[in-house]
Amino acid sequence: MIAVHEISKVYNDKNVVDHVSFEVKKGETLVLLGTSGSGKTTTLKMLNRLVPPTAGSIHIDGEDIMAEPPEKLRLRIGYVIQNIGLFPHYTVAENIATVPVLLNWEDNRISERIASLLQLMGLPQEMAERYPSELSGGQKQRVGLARALAADPPIVLLDEPFGALDPITRRQIQTEFKELETLLDKTMVLVTHDIFEAIELGDRICLMHEGKIQQIGTPLALIFEPANEFVWDYFKTQRFQLEMKVLTLKDLLPEIEPFDSGLGEKIIFNEETSFLDTMERLEANKNDAFQIAIFNEKRQNMHFTRKDKLWVAFNKVKEKLINKAN
Ligand SMILES: Nc1ncnc2c1ncn2[C@@H]1O[C@H](COP(=O)(O)OP(=O)(O)OP(=O)(O)O)[C@@H](O)[C@H]1O
Ligand SMILES: [Mg+2]
Repeated sequence: MIAVHEISKVYNDKNVVDHVSFEVKKGETLVLLGTSGSGKTTTLKMLNRLVPPTAGSIHIDGEDIMAEPPEKLRLRIGYVIQNIGLFPHYTVAENIATVPVLLNWEDNRISERIASLLQLMGLPQEMAERYPSELSGGQKQRVGLARALAADPPIVLLDEPFGALDPITRRQIQTEFKELETLLDKTMVLVTHDIFEAIELGDRICLMHEGKIQQIGTPLALIFEPANEFVWDYFKTQRFQLEMKVLTLKDLLPEIEPFDSGLGEKIIFNEETSFLDTMERLEANKNDAFQIAIFNEKRQNMHFTRKDKLWVAFNKVKEKLINKAN
């Protein structure tokens, strides 16, 4: 859906984005991850022509984005700006209505859309008439997201959409965000420097440094098959937790020894749950006398096991991945 070919951006004789190429498939979420100043925002802004590339080309749905006026292009692309960027003199409702107004939607349709987006974002309806200065940081970020989604664009670009939040609220919103039905079929490019957020939300991650792509691939590939020294070092300090985060119960299943006493409390997990999230949930459950049931999306193939057997499986799978990479 999005094809970026060898784009560069030069500011003051410096390549702040340096021959970057990637593709984003329909319905996929690509995360641009990297240290401050690595060129993430600039790359994102080139996708909707807020910044003109110095070189290279970008195609959306097979069409060169330079072939149509930027205003028209942006109607199809939702954009969540870094540091929120709500219009301060517009109410929440007016902010959300920005693109629908440009599209000449009827008033009724616009107010219905505003109401349903507020609900979707977990914001009270009375907030519609408030101004951005009267909201908390987290509420503003939700409004920013609502504004980007207002006209239901097929593509959404998000620049640190949860940047202003404390770690707890941030995690909660990330989880809610991941489960939003409206986002399931959207093609998204999301910028962050939060490694766990990248793994949580990205189908693939593009790790950037000094304007260049260091590696692009699944979270699993970046952690277990780092392309170079930089990638390895980037994830070094949190490696153990990250290994737990990129492996899902599904990945562990082939190595999980079954255990079913038939008795006692069972805690049920979807096989897509990461090993880290599984362990955190089990930690939170004070009673240790439970069994674990793992099932797939269709509630088929129940597997029963125990916590200690999950650890054994994790270590086996991890060892295999490390051996494979060497
Ligand atoms: N308009 C501009 N003029 C000159 N230099 C710029 C301009 N915009 C960005 N830069 C420079 O380009 C580099 C990349 O900036 P960019 O905003 O893309 O980084 P980023 O990866 O988004 O960083 P952060 O995580 O801090 O948001 C930085 O060194 C920045 O100073
Ligand atoms: Mg940025």
